Amino acid sequence: MNERAKFSSKLGLILASAGSAVGLGNVWRFPTEVGENGGAAFILIYILCVIVLGLSVMTSEFLIGRHTHANTFDAYKQLAPRSGWVFQGFLGVFTAWFILCYYCVVTGWTLKYLVDALTGSIGSITDSAAYFQAFTSSPWLPLAFMAVTLVMTHWVIVRGVQDGIEKYSKILMPVLLLIIAVPVICSFSMPGSKEGLRFLLRPDFSKINSDVILSAMGQAFFSLSLAMGCLCTYASYFGDDAKLMKTAGSVAAIDTTVAVMSGFIIFPAVFSVSEVAPDAGPGLVFITLPNVFQMAFSSVPWLGWIFSVMFYLLLLLAALTSMISIHEPVTAFLHEHYHLRRSTAAVIVTAVAMLFGVLCSLSFGVLNHVRPLMDMTFFDFFDFISAKIFLPVGGIIISLFVGWKLDRSLVIEEITNHGTLHIPVWLVRAYLFILKWIAPLAIGLIFINELALL
Ligand code: PFF
Repeated sequence: MNERAKFSSKLGLILASAGSAVGLGNVWRFPTEVGENGGAAFILIYILCVIVLGLSVMTSEFLIGRHTHANTFDAYKQLAPRSGWVFQGFLGVFTAWFILCYYCVVTGWTLKYLVDALTGSIGSITDSAAYFQAFTSSPWLPLAFMAVTLVMTHWVIVRGVQDGIEKYSKILMPVLLLIIAVPVICSFSMPGSKEGLRFLLRPDFSKINSDVILSAMGQAFFSLSLAMGCLCTYASYFGDDAKLMKTAGSVAAIDTTVAVMSGFIIFPAVFSVSEVAPDAGPGLVFITLPNVFQMAFSSVPWLGWIFSVMFYLLLLLAALTSMISIHEPVTAFLHEHYHLRRSTAAVIVTAVAMLFGVLCSLSFGVLNHVRPLMDMTFFDFFDFISAKIFLPVGGIIISLFVGWKLDRSLVIEEITNHGTLHIPVWLVRAYLFILKWIAPLAIGLIFINELALL
């Protein structure tokens, strides 16, 4: 147990956890949700969900991981031996594995678009929807890009916690946080961008209904990487002096800042190309934005180049650091629970993700007619089962577990670092109240709503 890997510094553990949180969910999914749910009002509700639910569940995952210093499955086994709670440890590991199988497909698209931006060919796409459709439905090219992203992730994971995850998070995250300003400035410099700013800054509360609130909650969970074993596994590498609540606050702040900045990149740019709607859906990043880049290229070529390269680089860095964090809980589980060598465990995780990733990728082409369940393609099925079913179920179980099952003194010892940190009593009370009542009820509502939409 003593030789178990640890992050070497507080900065390292914050950047690694923030790397997990900041991902496609921020740059791709968040603006899509903002566009579809009415702009600024959605952002305010999202921030409220992050503060009330996100921070509590994240602190709880940190607490479980740091207390046990074990992979997610063994963590629950240690805390509640021979009980049904162990199921959550298992669920966390498998949710992560499921997510990896389709997340790598979209990360592969990002890499392809980065290459197109670097070569400047993105500036000459005339019909971006047809281009996207032709690329994603072709059999080999998306697979090749997906495989490259999985190999990159694997390469970091086999290097271990300090020389892999921590070292690369300390390089990739600062680069990401630095370059994000460039596409924001480029977007603001587009003609007609003010309209987009107005959309982001002026809340229209008439758009708010229960669906919007539930979408905001679901987005907060996905974006903060909650309920999937990732943050719990990372926390098992935290030192005893890490401040759990403060770390959760820093990670949530970085994640939300990147999400809002992504809105500032996308909407001013999108509004400058007047014929596209801000609620264009998931195509926003791969169909709508190439139109913007093409326009920028045709007026000021270097601006188009910088804008597109920086944007897709940002997206790729965000996606890769998240992929690393999705890979780790499964690798750690196979390595520690089954006593496999870490490299063997990582090979198994990568190989299985590759196999199912192929099915998910081909869902956009030759396998589009194969609908294993509920008329969904493989891609939609993996997304649905992990993000829409396992994630809320996991969130409810974690809240109930820490709120009701864990010994109150253990919880307080962990969040106060054995009494050495002063946490105001009202905060501890609020935290426990949210876990006992608010989080399970609220997440339960997301879940029921999602099932009802089927
Ligand atoms: N939080 C990541 C994002 O916003 O893209 C996605 C993610 C990472 C989901 C890690 C799940 C996970 F375990």
